[in-house]
Amino acid sequence: MDDLSTFAADRIRPLIRVRQIRDFADRAVSPAELDAIADVARWSGSSSNTQPWRFVLVRQRDTIRRLAEAALPQTRALQTATAAIAIVLPDEAGRAVSYAYDEGRAAERILIAASMLGLGAGITWILPEARDKIHSILAIPEGRFVRTIVAIGHPSEAARAPKSAPGTARLPRGEVVFEEGWPKG
Ligand SMILES: Cc1cc2nc3c(=O)[nH]c(=O)nc-3n(C[C@H](O)[C@H](O)[C@H](O)COP(=O)(O)O)c2cc1C
Repeated sequence: MDDLSTFAADRIRPLIRVRQIRDFADRAVSPAELDAIADVARWSGSSSNTQPWRFVLVRQRDTIRRLAEAALPQTRALQTATAAIAIVLPDEAGRAVSYAYDEGRAAERILIAASMLGLGAGITWILPEARDKIHSILAIPEGRFVRTIVAIGHPSEAARAPKSAPGTARLPRGEVVFEEGWPKG
């Protein structure tokens, strides 16, 4: 690698370190930290700037645990999280793909913002069969739904440890990144 490549890779490395965290220490996320993360979420770009999402901040541990129980095993990160953000979307079949794209952008930004604050975060996916329970806990009105709840907290020691051998958590670059077009052969 030349100097410029090393510089670029080093600057961007914090993004590569943003990983799914599913286990958290018993240490609170401060109200100011959660508020700051929510601001990052609401500044996400969205299709035609429609801003279709609403974000429900959950700070009460009892509520976070009830959310966890309602949609296991996908929600296991909420069993130890000390804060959570539910992403609420309009339930409109015609715009489902566009909303899902906007939702993904916001979810990833929440993960990045948490990481920049020295916290960790993890996506939990609410399957359709669990949504009624989740909606009831969060008082979500008719015509809106929750598919993603992001668990947030201080990563536990175990969660900070590497999950896999170095270099194995993603496909090799050559299998994923192509130059100028699809590779021949
Ligand atoms: C659309 C989507 C849904 C996901 N659903 C869940 C989930 O329900 N529960 C969970 O623990 N992780 C969930 N994840 C996290 C993935 O498992 C995680 O991004 C993947 O394993 C890579 O993790 P890493 O970045 O730590 O390597 C989801 C991720 C995405 C993008």
